[in-house]
Amino acid sequence: MIHTFDVLVIGSGAAGLALALSLPKRYQVAILSKGNTKEGSTWYAQGGIAAVLDDKDSIESHVQDTIKAGAGLCHRDAVEFTVRNSKAAINWLVDLGVEFTRHADEEAYHLTREGGHSHRRIIHSADATGKALHSSLNAAAKSAKNIHLFTHHIAVDLIQQANASASNYRCSGAYVFNRDEDRVDVFSTKVVVLATGGASKVYLYTSNPDGASGDGIAMAWRAGCRIANMEFNQFHPTCLYHPKAKSFLVTEALRGEGATLRLPDGQRFMHKFHELDELAPRDVVARAIDHEMKRLGSDCVYLDISHKPKKFLEQHFPTVMKRCAKFGIDIAREPIPVVPAAHYTCGGVVVNHHGQTDLDGLYAIGETSFTGLHGANRMASNSLLECIVYAHSAAQHIIATIDQVPELSAPPIWDESRVTDSDEDVIISHNWDELRRFMWDYVGIVRTHKRLERATHRIKLLQKEISEYYANYKIGNDLIELRNLAMVAELIIRSATRRKESRGLHFSLDHQSTSNVAQDTVLVPINYAAQKLVVSVS
Ligand code: FAD
Ligand code: SIN
Repeated sequence: MIHTFDVLVIGSGAAGLALALSLPKRYQVAILSKGNTKEGSTWYAQGGIAAVLDDKDSIESHVQDTIKAGAGLCHRDAVEFTVRNSKAAINWLVDLGVEFTRHADEEAYHLTREGGHSHRRIIHSADATGKALHSSLNAAAKSAKNIHLFTHHIAVDLIQQANASASNYRCSGAYVFNRDEDRVDVFSTKVVVLATGGASKVYLYTSNPDGASGDGIAMAWRAGCRIANMEFNQFHPTCLYHPKAKSFLVTEALRGEGATLRLPDGQRFMHKFHELDELAPRDVVARAIDHEMKRLGSDCVYLDISHKPKKFLEQHFPTVMKRCAKFGIDIAREPIPVVPAAHYTCGGVVVNHHGQTDLDGLYAIGETSFTGLHGANRMASNSLLECIVYAHSAAQHIIATIDQVPELSAPPIWDESRVTDSDEDVIISHNWDELRRFMWDYVGIVRTHKRLERATHRIKLLQKEISEYYANYKIGNDLIELRNLAMVAELIIRSATRRKESRGLHFSLDHQSTSNVAQDTVLVPINYAAQKLVVSVS
């Protein structure tokens, strides 16, 4: 089946929805979501959105904090661009109906603090900011007549076609697996936007929902786009440690409101690692916890906010409180057992300030993109901000250029003539498990040359098996995701192997010092699709 639209947005998280809502009603927009519309990271976001909203705060202070957390690799122009647009982004959300928490009995919004921020600048909806944000954006998208939501549709690969003079290729749509109908459809469009989120599912333990398999990064790479800084995988320091509490994050805002990290014997330890103690940047806190757990052979450390009144906790952290209570933990009386888990992909598809990628007609926004904002370590709550700011600027660029997009012939349909139904799905589940386990063990919080060599060896074998499988059998959701996860794992391992220093989120026991020269790791595909892209600089 062929669907024709002006714009195809792959992803229904903060980035994808914000972009679709920023386009004029005269454009017909399709938004894909591989599950339900809310099954991305956005829905689960807790802490909030960083923005300069307080009179005592300043743009320069937010810029400086971001650059400091980014360990020398942030692109200053991308940081300034994002922070300068932060207030407008929040106003846009407020106009759409997002309800942020206010001070009790006051008009003013309550601003909280998180690691690396020198001011209270995180606007939030209690500890369920993502839910509030997504609900408003999704409701607006559903009521817009020009926006068409396709749930249970997973993009497999991008379509590229030469323009009339054959001098250039452009992205003209995507092949999309319709999970309900079990068939591959063609989406034929003038512009495609990747808003597919991150790739933290590549690790065994993650705060992310199941769909975070880096599909956008893998599709862009296969289509000839550069991918940068994939070695910087952020591990969130505090995820609930309980055998049945899969993927539950305990927001950094707890530490912002005074929660302390403690060893099993009750002693605090962060002062040994950073002058900001529990509010040190995330890479430092995650490594400190990892170090202490390994030193003591303990399964977890503890996060203690029991000094705060129960009423305060109920008002500010209802989600965390309820979830912990489900596992028998009363956070007003006892510390929470926590461990680090993979949380955020700082690298991604190289884009400029308009979200343009190397391939004409293809944009990337949100966690799947690499804008230069996060450097070697993303500062807390800068991610949702980046989603909204870049969604707006990509929309502006699309509006300015879409009417000049050349007419192309109908794209070729998906060819399934040489594949059969799989008779051995066990290969897929086995490879999923193996990949995520060796990535955790060999390419995790602390890396070594030897571990990366082992990972390189493992990924080569896995990719060979997956390619053979992909060539011979009909595709399904798990195979599409596994193929992408393996691709992204390879990009992470290659990037980590290239970096001969420790910086931000990349820590190697073999190269512990930080080089004086700060450089991005930019991987260039053999089918590099360069358009004349002006990318921001560090
Ligand atoms: P997502 O929200 O992840 O959405 C991705 C979308 O793409 C989904 O709709 C998915 O179905 C779709 N998709 C993916 N692949 C395909 C495909 N092949 N075909 C079709 N559709 C596809 N950041 C902050 O700034 N503040 C916070 O407080 C915060 N808290 C967080 C808490 C948790 C538990 C997590 C996991 C993350 C948190 N983050 C936070 C990070 C932030 O939530 C994410 O970076 C951000 O939401 C990413 O938004 P996105 O729109 O790029 O992608
Ligand atoms: C959190 O609430 O701790 C997550 C914030 C973020 O990832 O930015």
